[in-house]
Amino acid sequence: MEAYLHGTSPKEQERLALLNSLINDAGLRELRLRGGERIVDFGAGLGQFSAAMAEAGARVVGIERSEEQLGRAARHERLELRRGDAQDPPLRPEEWGSFDVAHARFLLEHVRDPAAVVRQMVRAVRPSGRVVLQDDDHDVLRCHPEPPGFAALWRAYQRTYDRLGCDPYVGRRLVSLLHGAGASPVRCTFLFFGACAGEEKFPALVENMAGLFLGARDAIVGQQLLDSAEFDAAIAGLRGWAERPDSAFWYAIFWAEGVRR
Ligand SMILES: C[S@@+](CC[C@H](N)C(=O)[O-])C[C@H]1O[C@@H](n2cnc3c(N)ncnc32)[C@H](O)[C@@H]1O
Repeated sequence: MEAYLHGTSPKEQERLALLNSLINDAGLRELRLRGGERIVDFGAGLGQFSAAMAEAGARVVGIERSEEQLGRAARHERLELRRGDAQDPPLRPEEWGSFDVAHARFLLEHVRDPAAVVRQMVRAVRPSGRVVLQDDDHDVLRCHPEPPGFAALWRAYQRTYDRLGCDPYVGRRLVSLLHGAGASPVRCTFLFFGACAGEEKFPALVENMAGLFLGARDAIVGQQLLDSAEFDAAIAGLRGWAERPDSAFWYAIFWAEGVRR
């Protein structure tokens, strides 16, 4: 089975939950649900976004591989969580080709064969059903002024994806993945994800970033991408930078949507 870079420790689950609280409203707005849709959410994680879609009136099946994530996942009366692999999703025969929407966020960057997952998503929806992909492309981050040691840390973090056989730049491929899987692309956009000193959400977003690195510390140091002193100095540099009155970072979640032909 593929390794999952971030793992599922309680600390990482806390980070993922906080991240969800910061980005779910924007994701829901972009999704433009009308209510009553049947949705399958691939790689549902802690189920917060699946539950948010259910709260918006959809009936949602969330598919997640990790028992630890499912054990602490959000619950909702219109959300059914199932354990399974996104490449071989546990859907019943009559469910294939029946969903209005198949959605995945921050999943394709963690699988070695994202095309195989998107093909399953297209199979899962009815003709004209929507396939919505949200993912990272780590190349779009800009910080200013640059925190000390940050460039090397960010590069090292991205290399941990390559070494697992995953693509840290999958965001830019989302439309071609839809096309390759037999869906007609209809829309792409960015969901802005960033903040500057003075914004209430800034400390939480910087801590999310620090949490990503800390979760990958063993991989980064173990693979000798940085030594432990360089790693620790870069984390301290990031936290010190966050105290400056003029610090800012810009990032974006890549969003692409297609419909089944
Ligand atoms: C970064 S989390 C994102 C969770 C959720 N989509 C969100 O946006 O909050 C990625 C999740 O995908 C799960 N995952 C990774 N590979 C998977 C696979 N092949 N099948 C199902 N789930 C997988 C991980 O266990 C993890 O919970």
